[in-house]
Amino acid sequence: MVAIRFLTGCLALALAFAVHGTRACALESRQDSPDFLTVGDDGPADAETLGFNINHLSLIVRNLTASQDFYSKVLGMRHIFTAELTPSYYVAYMGHAHGGKNGTGYQTGQELLREKNNAAGLIEFQYFKNSEDEGMTATTQRPNTFSHIGLVVPSLEKAQARMEKLGVKIIKRIGQSAEGIKPVENALGVGEFATKNQTERDLLVKGQELVGFAQLLVVEDPDGNMIEIQQLVPPPGVA
Ligand SMILES: *[C@@H]1O[C@H](CO)[C@@H](O)[C@H](O)[C@H]1NC(C)=O
Ligand SMILES: *[C@@H]1O[C@H](CO)[C@@H](O)[C@H](O)[C@H]1NC(C)=O
Ligand SMILES: *[C@@H]1O[C@H](CO)[C@@H](O)[C@H](O)[C@H]1NC(C)=O
Repeated sequence: MVAIRFLTGCLALALAFAVHGTRACALESRQDSPDFLTVGDDGPADAETLGFNINHLSLIVRNLTASQDFYSKVLGMRHIFTAELTPSYYVAYMGHAHGGKNGTGYQTGQELLREKNNAAGLIEFQYFKNSEDEGMTATTQRPNTFSHIGLVVPSLEKAQARMEKLGVKIIKRIGQSAEGIKPVENALGVGEFATKNQTERDLLVKGQELVGFAQLLVVEDPDGNMIEIQQLVPPPGVA
């Protein structure tokens, strides 16, 4: 049960372990519990799902310009399209170009649009211009069904320096523990709104330390969505 709680809180990290099997073993010895990590052993997916692929996630944004600025200038995503479906309802898509990921080749918006349904990791923004919902709450403010966006970068140190230079709101710097950082706790579903049980919260912080969460960088987008940043090759101590 404890293991499941830890893994739920650090889903992206759990994913990283699955990929780095040897690191998972190191983690087991540290945790001193053989069932801390359960590596998937399910068989092949149903053949009828061949070609299924998660293509995008969609965020409801308060200010479309601010969101597009952040995701392009800070995270390097390209603008694929904006559709003005009504004078007050817009949908926009952004994505990292292939050139952005492997550093080669520039793709025009037209090319990105053509490849849209064959891409992964895209972001959609939904913007209700005249929204009357003043209480729209980001996941870092209050737990909801959305936890965070996960970004992978070649160098965490360089990414952090860049975020600082650009004035991005940093929730958690590299090396800082998650303890007492409310937005992180809330986005991981164990903040003050999820549980008031201090024992359980202490346990979670310990679990996060075990998997090297302290070494990750966590920032916020303009609406307060949490962006967890991991390094392509995890630094020492990070599973
Ligand atoms: C939306 O964001 C842009 C860019 O940050 C800013 O210039 C503008 O004032 C914002 N609009 C509102 C209504 O807050
Ligand atoms: C980089 O991406 C471009 C565009 O998709 C592709 O043509 C090229 O083969 C890729 N290069 C490497 C080294 O993966
Ligand atoms: C708090 O959580 C711990 C660990 O799960 C549990 O043993 C304890 O009973 C809980 N305390 C309360 C007051 O629910």
